[in-house]
Amino acid sequence: MSNSHDIKDINLADVGKKRILWADKSMPVLAEIRAKFEKNKPFKGMRMSCCLHVTAETANLMRTCEVGGADILLVASNPLSTQDDVAASLVRDFGISVHAIRGEDNDTYYKHIKSAIAHKPHVTMDDGADLVSEILKNHPELHDHIIGSMEETTTGVIRLRAMQEAGMLKFPVVAVNDIQTKNMFDNRYGTGQSSIDGIIRATDTLIAGKTFVVAGYGWCGKGLAERARGLGANVIVTEVDSVKALAASMDGYRVMPMSEAAKLADIICTVTGNMHIVRSEHFKVMKTGCIVANSGHFDIEIDLVGLTKLSSNVIKDVRDNNNVDEYIVDGKSIYVLGQGRLVNLACAEGHPASVMDMSFATQALSSEFVVENKGKLEKRVYVLPASVEQDIAFTKLKTMGVNIDKLTPEQETYLASWEVGT
Ligand code: ADE
Repeated sequence: MSNSHDIKDINLADVGKKRILWADKSMPVLAEIRAKFEKNKPFKGMRMSCCLHVTAETANLMRTCEVGGADILLVASNPLSTQDDVAASLVRDFGISVHAIRGEDNDTYYKHIKSAIAHKPHVTMDDGADLVSEILKNHPELHDHIIGSMEETTTGVIRLRAMQEAGMLKFPVVAVNDIQTKNMFDNRYGTGQSSIDGIIRATDTLIAGKTFVVAGYGWCGKGLAERARGLGANVIVTEVDSVKALAASMDGYRVMPMSEAAKLADIICTVTGNMHIVRSEHFKVMKTGCIVANSGHFDIEIDLVGLTKLSSNVIKDVRDNNNVDEYIVDGKSIYVLGQGRLVNLACAEGHPASVMDMSFATQALSSEFVVENKGKLEKRVYVLPASVEQDIAFTKLKTMGVNIDKLTPEQETYLASWEVGT
C-alpha cells in the first residue's frame, strides 16, 4: 500500500467497500464518465487534491478521476462528515490517499488540508472552499501551478466570488454548484431528504403533526420544506429575501420572523449559509423539547456560544449516538443535533447516491474541462455551458428509462423566428 493515509482504521475497509459498490449501482452517469476516462486518461500525470465529504458517493468520484490517470489525495471538507469505513476502503482497495477521520479536531482538520497542499496539486476540488482559501492565502508557490479548481457548494461559490471581486483569485475556478443538474436536484431533493433523514436518525422523532421551521428558502430550503410537509409537518418558513418569502407563502407555507417561529417550533432546521440564524433571543422563547439542527455548510447558523452562555447545564450525547446534546435554558430542554454541523452528513449519510450521481458527473466533467483548456482560462469563476447540463440530464433520463420529445424542424424554425404573431 504505497498511498499515504491518516485514517481511523484500515480494518473497516470491508464494510466501506460494500457501501461504495452499493452507491455505485445508483450512479450510472458517473459510471459512463468513468468508462470514458479509463480510455482517454484526461488526468494522466496530474495530481489532484480533493477536499470533499468523505462518503461512498465521493469514493466513486475519486475512483473515476483515478482511472482517468489522476494521483489523488482526499481530505475531509467537514470534521464530522467522514465515513471511516469508506476512507479505509479507498486506501486499501482503490489506491487513493486519504487523510480524514470522523470527529477530527480543528488542528487535525487543518493538518489534513496541509497534506492536500503538500501533494502539490494541479487540480483541486472543494466543498466549501477551505482548501482553495488556504492555498490562496498562504501558498503563493502553488498559484501558477494549479490549472483549475472545482467548487461543489453554494457557500463555497459565494466565498470564491468574493475572492474574485477582491482580486484574490489566482487560477480559474468552476462553480459546479451553479449548474442546474447540480443545484436543482442535489440542493433540493438531496438536502430535502438527507436533512430529514439526519433529524430522524439522530432523534427518532415523529415528523407528522410537528411544527417544523425551515430557515432559508433557497433550493435547499424548498426541498426541506417539501419533504417535511410530505411527512405531515406543519411547516413555517423564515426568510430575509422578500421574493423568496413570497414564493414560500404562495407555496402554502406560513412565513414569519424567527422571533415568532421559535415560539411555535418543535423542530428548527437552518439552511441559509449565513450566521447566527438561531440565537439567544430565539433560544429564550423556545418550547421545552425543541430540536435545533443545521443543514447549511458551516456550523455558524446556530449560535452555540450564545446557547452555552444561556444554559445552566449542557448534557452531551443524551441519546448515546453522539449526535444529540441537551442544553438546559430556564429549566427547558433544547436539543442540538450534530453539534450544529450539517445534520445530513453528521447524523446520516448525506444525499443519496442517485442525486450525487449528477453532482459528481458535473465535478468530473468540470475537471476535464479545466485540464482540456489548460492555459486558456482566465482567473475567474466559470460556470459550464448549458449543453453540459443537457448532456447530464439526458444521460440520467436514459438510465432511468425515460424518453422525451424532440423539437420538430417546424418547431425549431418557429423558435428561431420572430415574424409569426396572432
Ligand atoms: N454532500 C451532501 N451529500 C453528500 C454525499 N453523499 N457525498 C458527498 N458530498 C455530499
